[in-house]
Amino acid sequence: MEIYIAKNAGFCFGVKRAIDITEKALDSTVKTNSLGLLIHNEQEVGRLKEKGLNVLDEIKETNTNENLVIRSHGETLEKKNEIIKNGYNLIDATCPILLSIYKKIQKAEDEGYTIVIIGDKNHPEIIGICGQISTDAIVINSIEEAERIKNKKNLYIISQTTNLIEKFLKLSDIIDRSNTNVVIKNTICNATKLRQQSTIELSKQVDAMIVIGGKTSSNTNKLYELSKKHCKNSFRIETVNDLSLQEVLKYKKIGITAGASTPEWIIEEVVQVMDNYSKDEFMEQVEGSITKI
Ligand code: F3S
Repeated sequence: MEIYIAKNAGFCFGVKRAIDITEKALDSTVKTNSLGLLIHNEQEVGRLKEKGLNVLDEIKETNTNENLVIRSHGETLEKKNEIIKNGYNLIDATCPILLSIYKKIQKAEDEGYTIVIIGDKNHPEIIGICGQISTDAIVINSIEEAERIKNKKNLYIISQTTNLIEKFLKLSDIIDRSNTNVVIKNTICNATKLRQQSTIELSKQVDAMIVIGGKTSSNTNKLYELSKKHCKNSFRIETVNDLSLQEVLKYKKIGITAGASTPEWIIEEVVQVMDNYSKDEFMEQVEGSITKI
């Protein structure tokens, strides 16, 4: 068996930064909360909970100056104000890429553009982006929705940072053709592009692919979509416990990729278990080769 790990897999810098900021806050003497799961990975959140992180579903009033970390996905301006009003020490771990998108759309709004976002309207990142402007953004996620935008003027199109490039280009082109003065800003982040490219490259070269990431991780779902396109034996797992070893180890060349909120230790666990299992199973003296390609 040969195991290949995608060149760009696992934590992106925005998620890594949010975790570093949270761990630093956890060193302080006051209680540290996050509003919702800090990242879309329950296992990593579980590790932070063990270090003392408290996950809040909603903001309650506090008079003890507790820390409240805004996750890398960002939050609406209204929510940030509510956090401060309720007595929390706000620690903003919003990804800098999103902060720069906020500035872009605020400027575009001031210049009279209507903001159009291609992405999932229920995703926290999109809710956070919509909450940076005072007018309503149009959020679409399908060809049908793009076709319904017609005869409008001054549209400023951006993307969810984890979108598939093909989808963004296709939908923005549909809107461009039926409207006037359309500005298209591809705001898919570089970390996403690199993870998608590495997944495509690797899935073309192996017999089976394992895509690791939290069930609710949008960017992992997209990696899985891309992987399946080029390698029909693609498996989507959250941790090693979801992996059917008998099923996967039928294949000789196995590729591994992981979403931007998947920690290195979960990837290592998967590699380790596969490697151990194959040695036990075949009783061979041959070492499984683990390579980054
Ligand atoms: Fe930021 Fe991109 Fe990660 S927007 S949180 S670096 S996926």
